[in-house]
Amino acid sequence: MLGVAGGIAAYKSAELLRRFTESGHSVRVLPTAAALEFVGAATFEALSGQPVHTGVFHDVPAVPHVKLGQEADLVVVAPATADLLARAAQGRADDLLTAALLTARCPVLFAPAMHTEMWEHPATRANVELLRSRGAVVLEPASGRLTGKDTGPGRLPDPAEIAELARLLLERASALPRDLVGRRVVVSAGGTREALDPVRFLGNRSSGRQGYALARVAAQRGAHVTLVAGHTADLADPAAVDVVHVGSALQMREAMHAAVKGADAVVMAAAVADFRPVSLVGHKIKKGAGDPAPLVLTQNPDILIELVGARETGQVVVGFAAETGDDTGDPLHHGRQKLARKGVDLLVVNAVGDGLAFEVADNAGWLLGADGSETVLGSGSKALLASHLWDAVAARLS
Ligand code: C5P
Repeated sequence: MLGVAGGIAAYKSAELLRRFTESGHSVRVLPTAAALEFVGAATFEALSGQPVHTGVFHDVPAVPHVKLGQEADLVVVAPATADLLARAAQGRADDLLTAALLTARCPVLFAPAMHTEMWEHPATRANVELLRSRGAVVLEPASGRLTGKDTGPGRLPDPAEIAELARLLLERASALPRDLVGRRVVVSAGGTREALDPVRFLGNRSSGRQGYALARVAAQRGAHVTLVAGHTADLADPAAVDVVHVGSALQMREAMHAAVKGADAVVMAAAVADFRPVSLVGHKIKKGAGDPAPLVLTQNPDILIELVGARETGQVVVGFAAETGDDTGDPLHHGRQKLARKGVDLLVVNAVGDGLAFEVADNAGWLLGADGSETVLGSGSKALLASHLWDAVAARLS
């Protein structure tokens, strides 16, 4: 069920609907009367292939105000306005959407969008807390440009981000508890680029998706998140996350050392280049008559090992390892050795190849702990892997 409340961000719900239907879901759209002032019923009906009503007096024999909620696997309300959150918190049932919210027993995800003042008002804060205490997921909104010239928290998160978190709740209803409130976490993501000259670089295929999913899930679990991002597959900044964009491994190293001060947890999900050119040529290397001079490379520092060395008391440090098997052992064997060599508290081991890990949406592997623990991370979205990792981090922090 996709509920749409009456705010200007209602136009983005059409894209969200499209994402849900294209990934194979059957979606019933329940707009409020105010939502239809922004987007016409025909848009929702055409995109969902289902009728759209706002009141409880349509198709009465089918009892839609009861059935729609009961039959849903997931309810997403996007945008959720201040008024909609208030009505949901009060348990009102004065239109089809709020009535259906009362009969739904599946996970419910509210994606708020409103002006910063409305979001920060004590009435809205209390409604959000009440809804969360009853088990609903109320997303942290994004910050940025609002309807007018003003900026601040209150923007609807990117539809791609809402869709990813919605998928996560279908995979695992308990994936977004508010267990990281008051925690500060730092995540690195993406690949570094090592410049050869002003236009060329050595890079890698990392999309950044796993690190972005980690940052997103931590922020929605209440953490204060700094994301140090290298090059990614054109990913939008996650909502409610401070993002520091960097280029090279040395820049990432500097940004990480600055960000981890006072942090409760640090996760290195970035694909850091192991080597960089010894010297950066100040001008574009020209095509000459013969072969170019050989590239001379030097080793980059291992940021993760440095962070372990500088670890503050109680800080949980997590690394990632993409492994393939070889003559000396399987990916898990290499993972265990890497855990010891890096000195991390937790290591996520991904078996690479066969459409896994790089540049794809899904991920699988093992989570190894310095305490000898070993958990299988079954195949699922990168957000699902992130939710399992934050469970393990939260357990160590408490
Ligand atoms: O040794 P390997 O590159 O497989 O280790 C992967 C882990 O180490 C990842 O967590 C990665 O972010 C981190 N790393 C790093 N600095 C490097 C290379 C890898 O922090 N120069």
